[in-house]
Amino acid sequence: MKKILFLLAFAVLGCKSNEKTVEPTGLVTSKAMVVSAREEASQIGVEIMKKGGNAFDAMVATELALAVSHPQAGNIGGGGFMVFRKANGETGAIDYREKAPLAASKDMFLDEKGNVIEGKSTATALASGIPGTIAGIFEVHKKYGSLPLSEILKPVIALAERGVVVTKFQAESLAYYRASFIKSNGKNSLFSKAYKENDTIKYTALAATLKRIAKNGRDEFYKGETAQKLVAFLAKKGGNATLEDLNSYSAKWRTPITFQYKNLKITSMSPPSSGGICLNQIMEMIEPFNLSQMGHNSVKTIQVITEAERRAYADRNYFLGDPDFVKLPIKELLSPSYLEKRMSDFSFDKASKSSDIAPGEIKGYESKQTTHYSIVDAAGNAVSATTTLNDNYGSKIYCDELGFFLNNQMDDFSAKPGVPNLYGLTGSEANSIAPGKRMLSSMTPTIVEKDNKLFMVVGTPGGSTIITSVLQTILNVYEFDMSMQEAVNAPRFHHQWLPDEITFEPNSFDKELLTNLKKKGYIINEKNKEIIGEVDAVLVLPNGKLEGGADKRGDNKAVGF
Ligand code: GLY
Repeated sequence: MKKILFLLAFAVLGCKSNEKTVEPTGLVTSKAMVVSAREEASQIGVEIMKKGGNAFDAMVATELALAVSHPQAGNIGGGGFMVFRKANGETGAIDYREKAPLAASKDMFLDEKGNVIEGKSTATALASGIPGTIAGIFEVHKKYGSLPLSEILKPVIALAERGVVVTKFQAESLAYYRASFIKSNGKNSLFSKAYKENDTIKYTALAATLKRIAKNGRDEFYKGETAQKLVAFLAKKGGNATLEDLNSYSAKWRTPITFQYKNLKITSMSPPSSGGICLNQIMEMIEPFNLSQMGHNSVKTIQVITEAERRAYADRNYFLGDPDFVKLPIKELLSPSYLEKRMSDFSFDKASKSSDIAPGEIKGYESKQTTHYSIVDAAGNAVSATTTLNDNYGSKIYCDELGFFLNNQMDDFSAKPGVPNLYGLTGSEANSIAPGKRMLSSMTPTIVEKDNKLFMVVGTPGGSTIITSVLQTILNVYEFDMSMQEAVNAPRFHHQWLPDEITFEPNSFDKELLTNLKKKGYIINEKNKEIIGEVDAVLVLPNGKLEGGADKRGDNKAVGF
């Protein structure tokens, strides 16, 4: 009933009441834009569109250029998801998530006592799912591409051969992981060397692999010389993937999750990502509250968002998994009456307890990486894609012969119900390991329409925090009148049901605000600096121009024309 009254009031008001004109602060261009984790990748995506390619051609180019220039997450050894909206309003999504090898089994990461063996699902060759990236981009290109693939791959191969300059962020990251690279790959591997800022790394082996893919097509990766070398390499490292696994891999078109928040229509990724469902649940639960009046990052706003997140993540962890293997109660989870009931015990007086929402125990967070890029082309087609090796540099196992890192995506399965993964996320039977199954994800590539027109393309890395960072970026623009760039830069917080704490970006929130939240019973964590994502987004301004939001937290860059 509350919801019905609210909707009636909203129908009268039409949309958010105090819409203001907001001055852009990010890059503004008139026709097309790519925002990604590296300038080189954004530049190559834009170059393809300048040559007459569309957003889908730019996707192929940007995805592969990130595999060259952003090896910690850009990949051909991992997988991802893409959501699109064509200029004619048609929307869709593709799932190129990794799959468990056929030899995988439910208890493969447990010891004889049934305990999780530390590191087995993250730092071994068994941690790798069958990569989906090459299948994904070829499928997208086959259906929607316009330029020949050889032309799209040309600047990417040239970049790999020319080499990529090490940035300050990258130098720090490579130094941090160097001991792991040496442990996994020996002293002579490409990433085992010491690099400093402004060095240039040439990716000769990756260039050769990409050349074979340009010549022989998708099957080069799944059936050809690359497939054979990859399987032999994995076997040498103790992996269980076979040629049959690679031969049988295919990317899958999915119907995205679509929902309404006031006068916004939001299209986001469906399972096996939890992103769209969680985002839908959270936005439905917060919609009745007047957030813009409560104020950006105010105590009340943080309470409302936190409590909705707590409830959505509890559902995520219990109910969600690969829809090709488990029946998911999606209709029930997204039902407005269910979500109204879910929030009915929320009070501004004191924090709910996760133990009252659902049981569980959890460890802390660790840093993790994925990467996202957002594209709009001159015709108005939009692509939102998130791709990953899971952890930074995946399993850290690097195939020098082929020039890429192997993912450790098997850790996104629930190795044992109730035991947390890298992201501190617990899972249930729905996300247990099975041969050929896809592991549950949090990736949330999202496209927002306002009044039926393209409004925003948005996404981020950040593991379990992906969903909540995408949420806050949309709200920052829509409810709190920020420009795209301001919305991306604004400090973020996160709650994921368990651990029962709100994670705040360190040194970004007012001490008094945190004290007030503590008084209401919230547990505050300001220690984890890497978990809050790097949002890359594009906003369509009222005059039709595009504003980029490239996250200041990394090397992200908007490029356009
Ligand atoms: N590996 C991070 C995710 O898919 O959510």
